[in-house]
Amino acid sequence: MKLFTSIYDVSDIHQLVSDAISLKKSPFANEQLGKHKTLGLIFLNPSLRTRLSTQKAALNLGLQVMVMNLDKEGWAVETQDGIIMNGTTVEHIREAAGVMGQYCDIIGFRSFPSLLNREEDYSEEIFNKFVKFCGVPVVSLESATRHPLQSLADLITIEELKKTEKPKVVLTWAPHVKPLPQAVANSFAEWMNKADYDFVITHPEGYDLAPEFVGKARVTNNQDEALAGADFVYVKNWSSYTDYGKMLINDDSWMMTNEKLKLTNNAGVMHCLPVRRGLELSHEILDGPNSLVLNQANNRVWAAQAVLKSILESICLP
Ligand code: CP
Repeated sequence: MKLFTSIYDVSDIHQLVSDAISLKKSPFANEQLGKHKTLGLIFLNPSLRTRLSTQKAALNLGLQVMVMNLDKEGWAVETQDGIIMNGTTVEHIREAAGVMGQYCDIIGFRSFPSLLNREEDYSEEIFNKFVKFCGVPVVSLESATRHPLQSLADLITIEELKKTEKPKVVLTWAPHVKPLPQAVANSFAEWMNKADYDFVITHPEGYDLAPEFVGKARVTNNQDEALAGADFVYVKNWSSYTDYGKMLINDDSWMMTNEKLKLTNNAGVMHCLPVRRGLELSHEILDGPNSLVLNQANNRVWAAQAVLKSILESICLP
């Protein structure tokens, strides 16, 4: 693998899950693979899990790691082409990305959407420019439309815990106080469709995801109906795709609770974190036996390690 920006960069997701589970059992089996190689982790937005789990994964592989919060610690970066830079931006992404490529063998990059212009966000303009101009393999640490390292960790979690070959997995919208990207929900849908589970998406009217991400999933605005018999429930807020970036309603009744859990097949409850307690997910679920949020967070390490190992093999081995 030379690039990890979406599921389309992965030739065999089941092999990648299997590699991740092997690495979980033997974290240091490939500790020579990254020797004398450098991973750069470049953030335009905040992070806890992605930053620490990817760093830990890299250290397990013997990589050196450099982390930069470019939005706070770097010069203001211009992304438009052909512009006369007589405003507030100081250097162009062409040079900034190119320079980082001089120092790193692999770069992880995080760039959230503006949520102001759907066409711009969904074209992944900033992310694609970074990939083009840095000139080295890139791992998405979450882009405007996708969060594939999270989705891989989620798939690992389900594969480890599922009791049937084809579990029922429900992605349910949850309330929030501000508009959030669709990236986690998009990506989760993409990976669940590929895994060929019994996959259902439920949300209030107006929160349909982009059709290319919904794929073959069943969609309903009736949360109770969706939850019936579910083996796994993935809770996530996202802003509207159709009325782009807007919060249309904020109905508290969509919060996942123990009462709703009774509708399911004693489902494992998932969330990528960070989570707003008492708003997106009840305290009782997060503190109870059905919560899988720490399993998911743990699997972020093995997801990142499997991806970095695959990229290192493609650049190190003949
Ligand atoms: N789930 C996730 O990506 O968390 P961070 O934003 O803290 O990295």
